[in-house]
Amino acid sequence: MPSRVLSGIQPTAEMHIGNYFGAVKNWVALQDTHECIYSIVDLHAITMSYEPAKLRANTERMVIDLLACGIDPDKAILFIQSLVPEHTELCWILSCLTPFGDLRRMTQFKDKSEIIEGQDSTQFVSAALFSYPVLQAADILVYRAQHVPVGKDQEQHLELSRELARRFNNQFGAEFFPEPMPLFTETPKLMSLVDPTKKMSKSAGDRHYVGLFEDEQGVRSKIKSAVTDSGDVAAGMSPGVLNLFEILKACGKTAAADELLQDYNAGNLKYSKLKEVVADALVELTSNLRAKRAEIEKDVGTVNKQVKEMSEKARAIAAETLREVRGIIGLPERT
Ligand code: TRP
Repeated sequence: MPSRVLSGIQPTAEMHIGNYFGAVKNWVALQDTHECIYSIVDLHAITMSYEPAKLRANTERMVIDLLACGIDPDKAILFIQSLVPEHTELCWILSCLTPFGDLRRMTQFKDKSEIIEGQDSTQFVSAALFSYPVLQAADILVYRAQHVPVGKDQEQHLELSRELARRFNNQFGAEFFPEPMPLFTETPKLMSLVDPTKKMSKSAGDRHYVGLFEDEQGVRSKIKSAVTDSGDVAAGMSPGVLNLFEILKACGKTAAADELLQDYNAGNLKYSKLKEVVADALVELTSNLRAKRAEIEKDVGTVNKQVKEMSEKARAIAAETLREVRGIIGLPERT
C-alpha cells in the first residue's frame, strides 16, 4: 500500500508562481507515488474577516486552478473541506485533548492576532483562529494520513497533529492514529520582485509577484521592472539577481541558467538579457497553464461533478474514521 498523503490549501483569489513552485507542483508529483488527498480548506479561511461572495468565488476558482496545475481526479482526491462535516466533528473531539497552553504558544496565532489587533477596532481575534491548528490536525487525522507536504511555516502545526495522535492513542489505549510526518521537499523560495529580501507574496502588492495565470504582457512588464542591483555591488550577487536565477531554474531552464551564470561570473551579463530569458520561461509556463485552465473552465459542469464525487470519496473515508473514533471514546453509534 502506498502511504497516504494529505495536504490543504486556503482558497485565495489568485495563486502566484511562488505558491506553485513552493507547494502545488510538489502535490502534482506526489500523485504518482502516494495516495493523495488534497483539500481546499474553506473553513480555515473563515477564521478571519472575509466576504462570503469572495470566499465562494475563490473556492470555485481554486478548484479549477488546481486541476489546471495537474491535480488529476483519476489519481488523487481533491475536495472542499466544508463538504466533509467529519472534519469539524473530529476537530471538536480533538480539541478536548488539546492543552490550551499548546495553542497559546502557536507562533502563527500570535502573528495573526497581532496583525488583527493592530488594524482596526471592527476586527477581533476569533476563538476559531485560536483553535485553527486543531482543525488542521483533524484534516489530517480524519484520513489517518502518514505524510503531509507543507512549508516550514507549518512545522509547529504538524507537531501538534502528531502530539494529538499520540495523546488519543495513549488516552484510549488504541494504536489508532498514525503520527503524521511532514514532507519538507526542497522547493525554491521565490522572493518579491520589488523587494527581493522578502518572500514573494500577494499582500505586498501587484508588482511584487507574477500570477500563475498571468498574461504575457503582465509577466514581461513585471519582470522588466524587477529590482536587480540595490547598489551594493561589493557584496556578491544581489538578492534580486539571485531571485531571477532561482525563477529560471524553477522553470526547469537549468542549461540557460548555467550559461547566464557563466556570463555573470565573467562580469559581462546584461540584466536586460537575463530578464528577457526569465520572462520567456515564465510566459511559456503561464500560457500553458492559462490554456489548460481555459479548457477546464469550458466545462464547469464536469468540474462540479468531479468535485462532488471526490468529496463523497473523501467523506466515505472520514465517516469510517469517525465511526471508529466514536466507538473508542464512548459516543453512541449513529444509525
Ligand atoms: N494551515 C495550512 C496553511 O496555511 C493549510 C492547511 C489546513 C493544511 N489544513 C491542512 C496543510 C492540513 C496541511 C494539512 O498552509
